[in-house]
Amino acid sequence: MFKEGISAVMQYKKRTHTCGELRSLHIGQTVTLTGWVDTRRDLGGVIFIDLRDRYGKTQVVFNPKHHQDAHELAKDLRSEFVISITGNVEKRPVGTENPKLATGDIDVLVSELAIINKAENTPFAIEDGIDTNEDLRLKYRYLDLRRPEMQERLLFRHKMCQISRRYFDQNNFVEIETPVLMKSTPEGARDFLVPSRINPGKFYALPQSPQTYKQILMVAGYDRYFQIVKCFRDEDLRADRQPEFTQIDVEMSFVDEIDIQNTVEGFVKQLFKELKGIDVQTPLPRLTYKEAMEQYGSDKPDLRFGLKFADFSEIVKDSGFKVFAENVKKGGVVAGFAVPGGASFTRNQMDNLVDFTKSLGVGGLAYIKLTEKGIDSAIEKFLGTEVCKKICDAAGAKVGDNVLIVSDAWNKTYTTLGTLRLEIAKRLNLIDENKWNLLWVVDFPMFEYSQEEKRYVAMHHPFTSPKPEDVAMLDTDPSKARARAYDLVLNGNEIAGGSIRIFSSELQSKVFGLLGIGAEEAKMKFGFMLDAFRYGAPPHGGIAFGIDRMAMLLTGSKSIRDVIAFPKTSSGYSLMDDNPSEVDTKQLDELHIRLK
Ligand code: AMO
Repeated sequence: MFKEGISAVMQYKKRTHTCGELRSLHIGQTVTLTGWVDTRRDLGGVIFIDLRDRYGKTQVVFNPKHHQDAHELAKDLRSEFVISITGNVEKRPVGTENPKLATGDIDVLVSELAIINKAENTPFAIEDGIDTNEDLRLKYRYLDLRRPEMQERLLFRHKMCQISRRYFDQNNFVEIETPVLMKSTPEGARDFLVPSRINPGKFYALPQSPQTYKQILMVAGYDRYFQIVKCFRDEDLRADRQPEFTQIDVEMSFVDEIDIQNTVEGFVKQLFKELKGIDVQTPLPRLTYKEAMEQYGSDKPDLRFGLKFADFSEIVKDSGFKVFAENVKKGGVVAGFAVPGGASFTRNQMDNLVDFTKSLGVGGLAYIKLTEKGIDSAIEKFLGTEVCKKICDAAGAKVGDNVLIVSDAWNKTYTTLGTLRLEIAKRLNLIDENKWNLLWVVDFPMFEYSQEEKRYVAMHHPFTSPKPEDVAMLDTDPSKARARAYDLVLNGNEIAGGSIRIFSSELQSKVFGLLGIGAEEAKMKFGFMLDAFRYGAPPHGGIAFGIDRMAMLLTGSKSIRDVIAFPKTSSGYSLMDDNPSEVDTKQLDELHIRLK
Protein backbone atom coordinates (compact mmCIF):
# COMPACT_ATOMS: atom_id res chain seq x y z
CA MET A 1 0.00 0.00 0.00
CA PHE A 2 1.31 3.47 -0.94
CA LYS A 3 1.85 5.74 2.04
CA GLU A 4 2.98 9.37 2.40
CA GLY A 5 6.68 9.52 3.12
CA ILE A 6 7.54 6.37 1.26
CA SER A 7 8.61 7.66 -2.07
CA ALA A 8 9.75 4.57 -3.87
CA VAL A 9 8.72 0.97 -4.12
CA MET A 10 11.76 -1.15 -4.78
CA GLN A 11 9.79 -4.23 -5.76
CA TYR A 12 7.79 -3.98 -8.93
CA LYS A 13 7.13 -6.15 -11.93
CA LYS A 14 9.17 -5.48 -15.07
CA ARG A 15 7.16 -4.58 -18.14
CA THR A 16 6.14 -7.23 -20.67
CA HIS A 17 5.15 -4.63 -23.28
CA THR A 18 5.58 -0.90 -23.90
CA CYS A 19 2.72 1.60 -23.65
CA GLY A 20 2.55 1.88 -27.45
CA GLU A 21 2.47 -1.79 -28.25
CA LEU A 22 -0.83 -3.45 -27.37
CA ARG A 23 -3.40 -4.13 -30.11
CA SER A 24 -6.53 -6.28 -30.56
CA LEU A 25 -4.35 -9.32 -31.13
CA HIS A 26 -3.23 -9.11 -27.48
CA ILE A 27 -6.80 -9.34 -26.13
CA GLY A 28 -6.99 -11.99 -23.40
CA GLN A 29 -3.30 -11.77 -22.45
CA THR A 30 -2.02 -10.80 -19.01
CA VAL A 31 0.50 -7.98 -19.38
CA THR A 32 2.60 -5.67 -17.25
CA LEU A 33 3.19 -2.04 -18.26
CA THR A 34 5.41 0.61 -16.66
CA GLY A 35 5.36 4.35 -17.24
CA TRP A 36 4.05 7.73 -16.16
CA VAL A 37 0.48 8.67 -15.30
CA ASP A 38 -0.59 10.92 -18.16
CA THR A 39 -4.24 11.68 -17.42
CA ARG A 40 -6.70 10.34 -14.91
CA ARG A 41 -10.48 10.26 -15.05
CA ASP A 42 -12.93 9.05 -12.39
CA LEU A 43 -16.13 7.80 -13.98
CA GLY A 44 -18.81 6.33 -11.79
CA GLY A 45 -16.34 4.83 -9.36
CA VAL A 46 -14.14 3.40 -12.10
CA ILE A 47 -10.70 5.07 -12.54
CA PHE A 48 -9.25 5.42 -16.03
CA ILE A 49 -5.56 6.22 -16.39
CA ASP A 50 -3.66 6.91 -19.60
CA LEU A 51 -0.25 5.38 -18.96
CA ARG A 52 2.56 6.94 -20.98
CA ASP A 53 6.10 6.02 -22.00
CA ARG A 54 8.10 7.07 -25.02
CA TYR A 55 6.39 4.49 -27.20
CA GLY A 56 2.86 5.78 -26.65
CA LYS A 57 -0.11 5.68 -24.30
CA THR A 58 -2.38 2.89 -23.11
CA GLN A 59 -5.63 3.26 -21.20
CA VAL A 60 -5.61 1.23 -17.99
CA VAL A 61 -8.77 0.68 -15.94
CA PHE A 62 -9.22 0.28 -12.18
CA ASN A 63 -12.63 -1.26 -11.49
CA PRO A 64 -13.49 -1.93 -7.83
CA LYS A 65 -15.66 -4.83 -8.94
CA HIS A 66 -12.68 -6.45 -10.60
CA HIS A 67 -10.02 -5.66 -7.99
CA GLN A 68 -10.83 -3.73 -4.83
CA ASP A 69 -7.23 -3.18 -3.58
CA ALA A 70 -5.85 -1.98 -6.85
CA HIS A 71 -8.76 0.43 -7.20
CA GLU A 72 -8.25 1.74 -3.66
CA LEU A 73 -4.57 2.36 -4.31
CA ALA A 74 -5.33 4.01 -7.66
CA LYS A 75 -7.16 6.80 -5.79
CA ASP A 76 -3.69 8.08 -4.77
CA LEU A 77 -2.47 8.39 -8.36
CA ARG A 78 -1.58 11.84 -9.70
CA SER A 79 -0.07 13.05 -12.98
CA GLU A 80 3.52 11.96 -13.57
CA PHE A 81 3.56 9.29 -10.86
CA VAL A 82 5.71 6.37 -12.01
CA ILE A 83 3.80 3.11 -11.79
CA SER A 84 3.74 -0.50 -12.84
CA ILE A 85 0.45 -2.27 -13.54
CA THR A 86 -0.47 -5.84 -14.33
CA GLY A 87 -3.80 -6.81 -15.84
CA ASN A 88 -5.78 -8.29 -18.68
CA VAL A 89 -5.94 -6.82 -22.16
CA GLU A 90 -9.60 -6.31 -23.03
CA LYS A 91 -11.50 -5.11 -26.03
CA ARG A 92 -12.93 -1.66 -25.34
CA PRO A 93 -16.74 -1.55 -25.29
CA VAL A 94 -18.16 -0.63 -28.71
CA GLY A 95 -18.25 3.16 -29.13
CA THR A 96 -15.48 3.84 -26.60
CA GLU A 97 -12.56 3.07 -28.95
CA ASN A 98 -10.10 5.92 -29.45
CA PRO A 99 -8.99 6.08 -33.10
CA LYS A 100 -6.42 8.79 -32.25
CA LEU A 101 -4.44 6.31 -30.15
CA ALA A 102 -2.54 3.40 -31.74
CA THR A 103 -3.64 1.33 -28.73
CA GLY A 104 -7.16 2.80 -28.87
CA ASP A 105 -9.01 -0.50 -29.52
CA ILE A 106 -8.05 -2.03 -26.18
CA ASP A 107 -7.56 -1.23 -22.53
CA VAL A 108 -5.98 -3.10 -19.63
CA LEU A 109 -8.15 -4.10 -16.67
CA VAL A 110 -5.76 -3.79 -13.72
CA SER A 111 -5.38 -6.40 -10.99
CA GLU A 112 -2.05 -5.23 -9.60
CA LEU A 113 -0.64 -1.73 -9.11
CA ALA A 114 2.76 -0.64 -7.77
CA ILE A 115 3.42 3.04 -7.24
CA ILE A 116 7.14 3.16 -7.93
CA ASN A 117 7.61 6.88 -7.40
CA LYS A 118 5.56 10.00 -6.70
CA ALA A 119 5.83 13.31 -8.54
CA GLU A 120 5.18 16.85 -7.44
CA ASN A 121 2.86 19.04 -9.49
CA THR A 122 4.78 19.88 -12.65
CA PRO A 123 5.26 23.56 -13.60
CA PHE A 124 3.65 22.89 -17.00
CA ALA A 125 1.57 20.15 -18.55
CA ILE A 126 3.40 17.20 -20.08
CA GLU A 127 1.63 17.39 -23.43
CA ASP A 128 2.10 18.69 -26.98
CA GLY A 129 1.42 22.23 -28.15
CA ILE A 130 1.90 23.99 -24.79
CA ASP A 131 2.55 27.74 -24.95
CA THR A 132 4.74 27.79 -21.85
CA ASN A 133 7.54 30.33 -21.75
CA GLU A 134 10.68 28.71 -23.24
CA ASP A 135 12.87 29.63 -20.25
CA LEU A 136 10.61 27.55 -18.00
CA ARG A 137 10.81 24.64 -20.44
CA LEU A 138 14.61 24.93 -20.43
CA LYS A 139 14.80 25.09 -16.64
CA TYR A 140 12.74 21.91 -16.33
CA ARG A 141 14.19 20.36 -19.48
CA TYR A 142 13.64 16.77 -18.21
CA LEU A 143 9.91 17.50 -18.11
CA ASP A 144 9.95 19.27 -21.45
CA LEU A 145 11.78 16.32 -23.00
CA ARG A 146 9.12 13.99 -21.59
CA ARG A 147 6.55 15.61 -23.89
CA PRO A 148 5.73 13.43 -26.94
CA GLU A 149 6.60 16.10 -29.55
CA MET A 150 10.05 16.63 -28.02
CA GLN A 151 10.62 12.89 -27.86
CA GLU A 152 9.67 12.63 -31.54
CA ARG A 153 12.20 15.32 -32.42
CA LEU A 154 15.04 13.61 -30.55
CA LEU A 155 14.14 10.27 -32.09
CA PHE A 156 14.12 11.89 -35.52
CA ARG A 157 17.59 13.23 -34.84
CA HIS A 158 18.72 9.81 -33.68
CA LYS A 159 17.49 8.36 -36.97
CA MET A 160 19.38 11.04 -38.90
CA CYS A 161 22.59 10.01 -37.16
CA GLN A 162 21.98 6.30 -37.80
CA ILE A 163 21.32 6.92 -41.53
CA SER A 164 24.49 9.02 -41.72
CA ARG A 165 26.62 6.35 -40.11
CA ARG A 166 25.16 3.68 -42.36
CA TYR A 167 25.53 5.72 -45.57
CA PHE A 168 29.11 6.81 -44.99
CA ASP A 169 30.18 3.38 -43.73
CA GLN A 170 28.67 1.72 -46.83
CA ASN A 171 30.61 4.16 -48.98
CA ASN A 172 33.96 3.27 -47.42
CA PHE A 173 34.25 6.24 -45.08
CA VAL A 174 36.08 5.69 -41.79
CA GLU A 175 34.75 7.35 -38.62
CA ILE A 176 37.72 8.79 -36.76
CA GLU A 177 37.49 10.83 -33.57
CA THR A 178 39.55 13.99 -33.35
CA PRO A 179 40.54 15.87 -30.18
CA VAL A 180 38.23 18.20 -28.28
CA LEU A 181 41.21 19.88 -26.68
CA MET A 182 43.01 21.38 -29.64
CA LYS A 183 45.33 24.18 -30.62
CA SER A 184 43.68 27.56 -30.99
CA THR A 185 43.50 28.01 -34.78
CA PRO A 186 41.14 30.85 -35.70
CA GLU A 187 38.55 29.80 -38.28
CA GLY A 188 36.24 32.77 -38.29
CA ALA A 189 34.52 32.79 -34.93
CA ARG A 190 36.01 33.24 -31.46
CA ASP A 191 37.49 30.20 -29.70
CA PHE A 192 36.35 28.81 -26.36
CA LEU A 193 39.57 28.45 -24.38
CA VAL A 194 40.51 25.85 -21.77
CA PRO A 195 43.44 26.64 -19.45
CA SER A 196 46.04 23.92 -18.97
CA ARG A 197 46.79 23.25 -15.28
CA ILE A 198 50.01 21.42 -15.96
CA ASN A 199 51.26 23.97 -18.50
CA PRO A 200 50.88 27.31 -16.72
CA GLY A 201 49.85 30.18 -19.01
CA LYS A 202 48.94 27.84 -21.87
CA PHE A 203 45.51 27.14 -23.28
CA TYR A 204 43.73 24.57 -25.35
CA ALA A 205 40.88 25.66 -27.58
CA LEU A 206 37.66 23.77 -28.22
CA PRO A 207 37.43 23.02 -31.96
CA GLN A 208 35.33 25.38 -34.11
CA SER A 209 35.43 22.35 -36.40
CA PRO A 210 37.91 19.49 -36.87
CA GLN A 211 39.08 21.19 -40.10
CA THR A 212 42.86 20.92 -39.58
CA TYR A 213 42.67 17.38 -38.20
CA LYS A 214 40.63 16.04 -41.09
CA GLN A 215 43.05 17.52 -43.59
CA ILE A 216 45.95 15.95 -41.72
CA LEU A 217 44.09 12.62 -41.81
CA MET A 218 44.13 12.95 -45.62
CA VAL A 219 47.91 13.45 -45.49
CA ALA A 220 47.98 10.31 -43.30
CA GLY A 221 46.24 8.35 -46.06
CA TYR A 222 42.70 7.85 -44.66
CA ASP A 223 41.20 8.92 -47.96
CA ARG A 224 37.54 8.90 -46.84
CA TYR A 225 36.87 10.26 -43.35
CA PHE A 226 33.66 11.18 -41.59
CA GLN A 227 32.70 12.01 -38.04
CA ILE A 228 29.59 13.12 -36.16
CA VAL A 229 31.28 15.73 -34.07
CA LYS A 230 30.66 18.56 -31.63
CA CYS A 231 31.92 21.99 -32.68
CA PHE A 232 32.23 25.08 -30.49
CA ARG A 233 32.03 28.70 -31.57
CA ASP A 234 31.91 31.70 -29.30
CA GLU A 235 29.71 33.85 -31.54
CA ASP A 236 26.50 35.82 -31.17
CA LEU A 237 23.59 33.40 -31.12
CA ARG A 238 20.51 33.39 -33.33
CA ALA A 239 17.52 31.12 -33.82
CA ASP A 240 19.65 28.82 -36.01
CA ARG A 241 22.91 29.02 -34.05
CA GLN A 242 24.22 27.44 -30.87
CA PRO A 243 27.63 27.88 -29.20
CA GLU A 244 28.06 24.10 -29.33
CA PHE A 245 26.51 22.31 -32.25
CA THR A 246 27.02 19.09 -34.17
CA GLN A 247 28.41 18.51 -37.62
CA ILE A 248 28.54 15.54 -39.92
CA ASP A 249 32.09 16.20 -41.01
CA VAL A 250 33.44 14.69 -44.24
CA GLU A 251 36.78 14.75 -46.06
CA MET A 252 37.95 12.91 -49.19
CA SER A 253 41.23 12.60 -51.12
CA PHE A 254 41.89 12.59 -54.88
CA VAL A 255 38.56 14.28 -55.58
CA ASP A 256 37.15 17.40 -57.16
CA GLU A 257 33.99 19.39 -56.34
CA ILE A 258 31.75 17.07 -58.32
CA ASP A 259 32.93 13.94 -56.47
CA ILE A 260 32.12 15.54 -53.13
CA GLN A 261 28.81 16.94 -54.33
CA ASN A 262 27.82 13.53 -55.74
CA THR A 263 28.60 11.86 -52.40
CA VAL A 264 26.55 14.50 -50.59
CA GLU A 265 23.65 14.21 -53.01
CA GLY A 266 23.53 10.44 -52.45
CA PHE A 267 23.43 11.09 -48.73
CA VAL A 268 20.71 13.75 -48.97
CA LYS A 269 18.65 11.45 -51.22
CA GLN A 270 18.84 8.68 -48.63
CA LEU A 271 18.03 11.04 -45.74
CA PHE A 272 14.93 12.45 -47.45
CA LYS A 273 13.75 9.03 -48.59
CA GLU A 274 14.08 7.36 -45.20
CA LEU A 275 13.02 10.27 -43.02
CA LYS A 276 10.33 11.93 -45.11
CA GLY A 277 9.49 9.42 -47.86
CA ILE A 278 10.50 12.04 -50.43
CA ASP A 279 12.42 11.33 -53.66
CA VAL A 280 14.98 14.10 -54.16
CA GLN A 281 15.84 14.62 -57.83
CA THR A 282 19.58 14.80 -58.47
CA PRO A 283 21.79 16.39 -59.64
CA LEU A 284 20.63 19.33 -57.55
CA PRO A 285 20.44 22.73 -59.23
CA ARG A 286 23.49 24.96 -58.95
CA LEU A 287 23.82 28.72 -58.81
CA THR A 288 27.10 30.58 -58.64
CA TYR A 289 27.49 33.00 -55.75
CA LYS A 290 27.22 35.87 -58.27
CA GLU A 291 24.01 34.48 -59.77
CA ALA A 292 22.50 33.83 -56.33
CA MET A 293 23.23 37.38 -55.22
CA GLU A 294 22.15 39.07 -58.45
CA GLN A 295 18.96 37.02 -58.82
CA TYR A 296 17.83 36.55 -55.20
CA GLY A 297 20.05 38.79 -53.05
CA SER A 298 21.36 35.99 -50.86
CA ASP A 299 24.12 33.37 -50.84
CA LYS A 300 21.48 31.00 -49.44
CA PRO A 301 18.46 31.83 -51.56
CA ASP A 302 15.05 30.41 -50.76
CA LEU A 303 13.71 29.22 -54.12
CA ARG A 304 10.35 27.98 -52.85
CA PHE A 305 9.00 31.16 -54.40
CA GLY A 306 9.92 33.49 -57.30
CA LEU A 307 10.40 37.26 -56.98
CA LYS A 308 13.55 37.03 -59.11
CA PHE A 309 15.52 40.26 -59.61
CA ALA A 310 16.29 42.20 -62.77
CA ASP A 311 19.16 44.64 -63.30
CA PHE A 312 17.93 48.05 -64.53
CA SER A 313 21.35 49.76 -64.53
CA GLU A 314 21.69 49.86 -68.32
CA ILE A 315 18.14 51.20 -68.72
CA VAL A 316 18.57 54.08 -66.25
CA LYS A 317 22.24 54.99 -66.65
CA ASP A 318 21.56 57.89 -69.03
CA SER A 319 18.17 58.82 -67.61
CA GLY A 320 17.26 62.15 -66.08
CA PHE A 321 16.98 60.61 -62.64
CA LYS A 322 20.27 61.64 -61.07
CA VAL A 323 20.10 59.30 -58.07
CA PHE A 324 20.07 56.29 -60.41
CA ALA A 325 22.33 57.63 -63.18
CA GLU A 326 25.08 58.79 -60.82
CA ASN A 327 25.01 55.57 -58.84
CA VAL A 328 25.51 53.55 -62.05
CA LYS A 329 28.36 55.84 -63.14
CA LYS A 330 30.04 55.23 -59.75
CA GLY A 331 29.90 51.48 -60.45
CA GLY A 332 26.74 50.88 -58.42
CA VAL A 333 23.68 48.90 -59.43
CA VAL A 334 19.99 49.75 -59.87
CA ALA A 335 17.94 46.57 -59.55
CA GLY A 336 14.66 45.25 -58.25
CA PHE A 337 11.78 42.87 -58.73
CA ALA A 338 8.09 42.81 -59.58
CA VAL A 339 5.62 42.05 -56.80
CA PRO A 340 2.62 40.22 -58.26
CA GLY A 341 -0.57 42.14 -57.43
CA GLY A 342 1.55 44.84 -55.72
CA ALA A 343 -0.15 47.68 -57.63
CA SER A 344 -2.95 47.41 -55.10
CA PHE A 345 -0.63 48.26 -52.16
CA THR A 346 -2.06 51.31 -50.38
CA ARG A 347 -0.12 54.47 -49.64
CA ASN A 348 0.25 53.29 -46.07
CA GLN A 349 1.56 49.88 -47.06
CA MET A 350 4.09 51.50 -49.41
CA ASP A 351 5.26 53.98 -46.75
CA ASN A 352 5.75 51.04 -44.45
CA LEU A 353 7.82 49.16 -47.08
CA VAL A 354 9.92 52.25 -47.77
CA ASP A 355 10.65 52.62 -44.05
CA PHE A 356 11.49 48.93 -43.80
CA THR A 357 13.93 49.25 -46.73
CA LYS A 358 15.54 52.38 -45.31
CA SER A 359 16.06 50.61 -42.00
CA LEU A 360 18.32 48.21 -43.93
CA GLY A 361 20.72 51.07 -44.55
CA VAL A 362 19.93 52.31 -48.07
CA GLY A 363 18.69 55.75 -49.09
CA GLY A 364 15.23 54.63 -50.13
CA LEU A 365 12.93 52.42 -52.14
CA ALA A 366 11.55 53.52 -55.50
CA TYR A 367 8.56 51.81 -57.09
CA ILE A 368 6.58 51.69 -60.28
CA LYS A 369 3.02 50.41 -60.27
CA LEU A 370 1.73 49.01 -63.54
CA THR A 371 -2.02 49.61 -63.59
CA GLU A 372 -4.81 49.26 -66.17
CA LYS A 373 -4.29 52.96 -66.87
CA GLY A 374 -0.53 52.59 -67.32
CA ILE A 375 2.46 53.64 -65.22
CA ASP A 376 1.77 54.98 -61.74
CA SER A 377 4.98 56.15 -60.09
CA ALA A 378 6.46 59.16 -58.33
CA ILE A 379 9.69 58.73 -60.33
CA GLU A 380 7.93 58.75 -63.74
CA LYS A 381 8.47 62.49 -63.97
CA PHE A 382 12.26 62.00 -63.70
CA LEU A 383 12.64 58.79 -65.70
CA GLY A 384 9.97 59.33 -68.35
CA THR A 385 7.21 56.90 -69.26
CA GLU A 386 9.30 54.94 -71.76
CA VAL A 387 12.07 54.16 -69.26
CA CYS A 388 9.47 53.18 -66.68
CA LYS A 389 7.93 50.79 -69.19
CA LYS A 390 11.33 49.30 -69.98
CA ILE A 391 11.92 48.71 -66.27
CA CYS A 392 8.54 46.96 -65.98
CA ASP A 393 9.38 44.81 -69.02
CA ALA A 394 12.82 43.91 -67.66
CA ALA A 395 11.22 42.91 -64.35
CA GLY A 396 8.58 40.84 -66.17
CA ALA A 397 5.83 42.93 -64.54
CA LYS A 398 2.22 42.39 -65.57
CA VAL A 399 -0.72 44.75 -65.17
CA GLY A 400 -1.49 44.84 -61.44
CA ASP A 401 2.16 44.38 -60.38
CA ASN A 402 4.49 46.73 -58.55
CA VAL A 403 8.21 46.94 -59.34
CA LEU A 404 10.35 47.68 -56.28
CA ILE A 405 13.71 49.32 -57.04
CA VAL A 406 16.88 49.84 -54.99
CA SER A 407 19.94 51.81 -56.10
CA ASP A 408 23.24 51.49 -54.25
CA ALA A 409 26.63 49.72 -54.42
CA TRP A 410 26.48 46.12 -55.76
CA ASN A 411 26.58 44.38 -52.40
CA LYS A 412 24.27 46.80 -50.60
CA THR A 413 21.69 46.79 -53.43
CA TYR A 414 21.47 43.03 -53.59
CA THR A 415 21.56 42.26 -49.87
CA THR A 416 18.84 44.88 -49.32
CA LEU A 417 16.71 43.44 -52.12
CA GLY A 418 17.33 39.97 -50.67
CA THR A 419 15.91 40.97 -47.30
CA LEU A 420 13.03 42.83 -48.96
CA ARG A 421 12.27 39.76 -51.12
CA LEU A 422 11.91 37.56 -48.02
CA GLU A 423 9.81 40.18 -46.27
CA ILE A 424 7.42 40.49 -49.23
CA ALA A 425 7.18 36.69 -49.49
CA LYS A 426 6.21 36.53 -45.81
CA ARG A 427 3.72 39.39 -46.01
CA LEU A 428 2.06 37.96 -49.14
CA ASN A 429 2.23 34.40 -47.87
CA LEU A 430 4.15 33.21 -50.94
CA ILE A 431 6.16 30.47 -49.19
CA ASP A 432 4.79 26.96 -49.63
CA GLU A 433 5.76 25.28 -46.34
CA ASN A 434 5.31 21.84 -47.91
CA LYS A 435 8.04 22.41 -50.48
CA TRP A 436 11.62 21.24 -50.05
CA ASN A 437 14.05 23.29 -52.06
CA LEU A 438 17.65 22.12 -52.22
CA LEU A 439 20.41 23.72 -54.26
CA TRP A 440 24.16 24.21 -54.40
CA VAL A 441 25.68 27.66 -54.30
CA VAL A 442 29.17 27.46 -55.81
CA ASP A 443 32.15 29.65 -56.80
CA PHE A 444 32.20 31.85 -53.72
CA PRO A 445 34.78 34.65 -53.66
CA MET A 446 38.00 33.66 -51.86
CA PHE A 447 37.96 36.76 -49.66
CA GLU A 448 35.64 39.37 -48.30
CA TYR A 449 36.71 42.66 -46.83
CA SER A 450 36.09 43.00 -43.11
CA GLN A 451 35.30 46.60 -42.17
CA GLU A 452 35.77 45.66 -38.53
CA GLU A 453 39.25 44.22 -38.96
CA LYS A 454 40.21 46.43 -41.93
CA ARG A 455 41.57 43.48 -43.86
CA TYR A 456 40.53 40.61 -46.10
CA VAL A 457 39.11 37.57 -44.33
CA ALA A 458 38.50 34.14 -45.87
CA MET A 459 34.93 33.80 -47.04
CA HIS A 460 34.95 30.07 -46.23
CA HIS A 461 38.15 29.37 -44.30
CA PRO A 462 41.88 29.93 -44.84
CA PHE A 463 42.45 26.40 -46.19
CA THR A 464 40.14 26.80 -49.19
CA SER A 465 41.72 26.52 -52.63
CA PRO A 466 41.28 29.22 -55.26
CA LYS A 467 39.89 28.11 -58.63
CA PRO A 468 42.88 27.12 -60.81
CA GLU A 469 42.02 29.77 -63.41
CA ASP A 470 41.94 32.47 -60.68
CA VAL A 471 45.26 31.64 -58.96
CA ALA A 472 47.08 34.39 -60.91
CA MET A 473 44.57 36.91 -59.53
CA LEU A 474 45.96 36.35 -56.04
CA ASP A 475 48.85 38.59 -57.21
CA THR A 476 46.83 41.08 -59.23
CA ASP A 477 43.31 41.42 -57.76
CA PRO A 478 42.67 38.99 -54.89
CA SER A 479 39.20 40.45 -54.28
CA LYS A 480 38.10 38.98 -57.63
CA ALA A 481 39.54 35.49 -57.10
CA ARG A 482 36.95 32.76 -56.72
CA ALA A 483 37.21 29.82 -54.35
CA ARG A 484 36.53 26.14 -54.94
CA ALA A 485 33.89 26.44 -52.21
CA TYR A 486 30.28 25.27 -52.18
CA ASP A 487 27.32 25.47 -49.81
CA LEU A 488 24.26 23.28 -49.72
CA VAL A 489 21.08 25.29 -49.17
CA LEU A 490 17.73 23.98 -47.96
CA ASN A 491 14.73 26.34 -48.00
CA GLY A 492 16.91 29.42 -47.61
CA ASN A 493 19.19 27.95 -44.92
CA GLU A 494 22.82 26.93 -45.29
CA ILE A 495 22.83 23.31 -44.14
CA ALA A 496 26.34 22.37 -45.29
CA GLY A 497 29.49 24.09 -46.45
CA GLY A 498 32.78 22.85 -47.81
CA SER A 499 35.59 23.29 -50.28
CA ILE A 500 38.49 21.77 -52.16
CA ARG A 501 41.56 22.55 -50.07
CA ILE A 502 44.95 23.96 -50.74
CA PHE A 503 47.46 21.12 -50.50
CA SER A 504 50.71 22.88 -51.29
CA SER A 505 52.55 24.61 -48.48
CA GLU A 506 53.64 27.44 -50.87
CA LEU A 507 50.09 28.29 -51.94
CA GLN A 508 48.88 27.96 -48.35
CA SER A 509 51.57 30.39 -47.17
CA LYS A 510 50.59 32.82 -49.91
CA VAL A 511 46.90 32.74 -48.89
CA PHE A 512 47.85 33.21 -45.24
CA GLY A 513 49.84 36.27 -46.37
CA LEU A 514 46.81 37.72 -48.17
CA LEU A 515 44.78 37.19 -44.99
CA GLY A 516 47.32 39.23 -43.07
CA ILE A 517 48.82 36.17 -41.37
CA GLY A 518 52.59 36.72 -41.60
CA ALA A 519 55.19 33.95 -41.95
CA GLU A 520 56.00 33.99 -38.22
CA GLU A 521 52.34 33.85 -37.14
CA ALA A 522 51.55 31.18 -39.74
CA LYS A 523 54.42 29.06 -38.43
CA MET A 524 53.20 29.46 -34.85
CA LYS A 525 49.53 28.78 -35.57
CA PHE A 526 49.58 26.41 -38.52
CA GLY A 527 53.21 25.24 -38.69
CA PHE A 528 52.14 21.65 -38.10
CA MET A 529 49.91 21.78 -41.16
CA LEU A 530 52.44 23.45 -43.42
CA ASP A 531 54.92 20.81 -42.25
CA ALA A 532 52.49 18.00 -42.99
CA PHE A 533 51.96 19.34 -46.51
CA ARG A 534 55.69 18.87 -47.16
CA TYR A 535 55.44 15.10 -46.79
CA GLY A 536 53.21 14.05 -49.66
CA ALA A 537 49.82 15.70 -49.18
CA PRO A 538 47.18 14.33 -51.57
CA PRO A 539 44.71 16.69 -53.23
CA HIS A 540 41.65 16.71 -50.99
CA GLY A 541 38.42 18.43 -50.11
CA GLY A 542 35.35 18.01 -47.97
CA ILE A 543 32.23 19.40 -46.46
CA ALA A 544 30.38 19.60 -43.13
CA PHE A 545 26.65 19.47 -42.45
CA GLY A 546 25.01 21.23 -39.54
CA ILE A 547 22.93 18.41 -38.02
CA ASP A 548 21.03 20.68 -35.65
CA ARG A 549 20.00 23.00 -38.45
CA MET A 550 18.94 20.11 -40.69
CA ALA A 551 16.95 18.48 -37.88
CA MET A 552 15.26 21.82 -37.18
CA LEU A 553 14.21 22.22 -40.82
CA LEU A 554 13.20 18.62 -41.42
CA THR A 555 11.05 18.48 -38.27
CA GLY A 556 9.51 21.88 -39.02
CA SER A 557 10.76 23.27 -35.70
CA LYS A 558 10.92 27.02 -35.20
CA SER A 559 14.13 27.01 -33.20
CA ILE A 560 17.35 25.01 -33.25
CA ARG A 561 16.88 24.58 -29.47
CA ASP A 562 13.91 22.31 -30.09
CA VAL A 563 16.09 19.60 -31.65
CA ILE A 564 18.88 19.74 -29.06
CA ALA A 565 18.38 17.89 -25.78
CA PHE A 566 20.16 20.42 -23.60
CA PRO A 567 20.60 23.70 -25.51
CA LYS A 568 21.82 27.11 -24.37
CA THR A 569 19.68 30.25 -24.36
CA SER A 570 20.51 33.14 -26.68
CA SER A 571 22.79 34.50 -23.97
CA GLY A 572 24.71 31.23 -23.88
CA TYR A 573 23.12 30.03 -20.64
CA SER A 574 21.95 26.59 -19.62
CA LEU A 575 19.02 27.32 -17.32
CA MET A 576 18.58 23.77 -16.04
CA ASP A 577 21.97 23.42 -14.40
CA ASP A 578 22.72 27.15 -14.10
CA ASN A 579 25.75 27.11 -16.34
CA PRO A 580 28.20 28.86 -16.85
CA SER A 581 28.77 29.34 -13.14
CA GLU A 582 31.41 30.72 -10.83
CA VAL A 583 34.22 28.41 -9.76
CA ASP A 584 36.07 28.49 -6.46
CA THR A 585 39.37 30.25 -5.99
CA LYS A 586 41.21 26.98 -5.45
CA GLN A 587 40.28 25.85 -8.96
CA LEU A 588 41.37 29.19 -10.42
CA ASP A 589 44.65 29.07 -8.50
CA GLU A 590 45.39 25.61 -9.86
CA LEU A 591 44.82 26.98 -13.35
CA HIS A 592 47.05 30.00 -12.68
CA ILE A 593 44.14 32.35 -13.35
CA ARG A 594 43.28 35.53 -11.49
CA LEU A 595 39.98 37.27 -12.23
CA LYS A 596 40.03 41.00 -12.95
P1 AMO B 1 30.97 25.83 -41.76
O1 AMO B 1 31.53 26.84 -40.84
O2 AMO B 1 30.31 26.30 -43.01
O3 AMO B 1 32.10 24.85 -42.30
O4 AMO B 1 29.98 24.89 -40.95
C1 AMO B 1 29.30 23.82 -41.56
C2 AMO B 1 27.82 23.82 -41.19
O5 AMO B 1 27.66 23.82 -39.78
C3 AMO B 1 26.47 24.52 -39.42
N1 AMO B 1 26.80 25.58 -38.42
C4 AMO B 1 26.11 25.79 -37.28
N2 AMO B 1 25.01 25.20 -36.76
C5 AMO B 1 24.57 25.61 -35.57
N3 AMO B 1 25.14 26.59 -34.84
C6 AMO B 1 26.26 27.23 -35.31
N4 AMO B 1 26.83 28.17 -34.55
C7 AMO B 1 26.78 26.83 -36.59
N5 AMO B 1 27.83 27.22 -37.35
C8 AMO B 1 27.83 26.44 -38.45
C9 AMO B 1 25.90 25.11 -40.69
C10 AMO B 1 27.09 25.07 -41.64
O6 AMO B 1 26.67 24.93 -42.98
N6 AMO B 1 35.16 23.05 -41.45
C11 AMO B 1 34.19 23.61 -42.35
C12 AMO B 1 33.58 22.56 -43.26
C13 AMO B 1 34.48 22.17 -44.42
O7 AMO B 1 35.07 23.05 -45.07
O8 AMO B 1 34.56 20.95 -44.70
C14 AMO B 1 33.05 24.23 -41.52
O9 AMO B 1 32.97 24.09 -40.33
O10 AMO B 1 24.87 24.27 -41.17
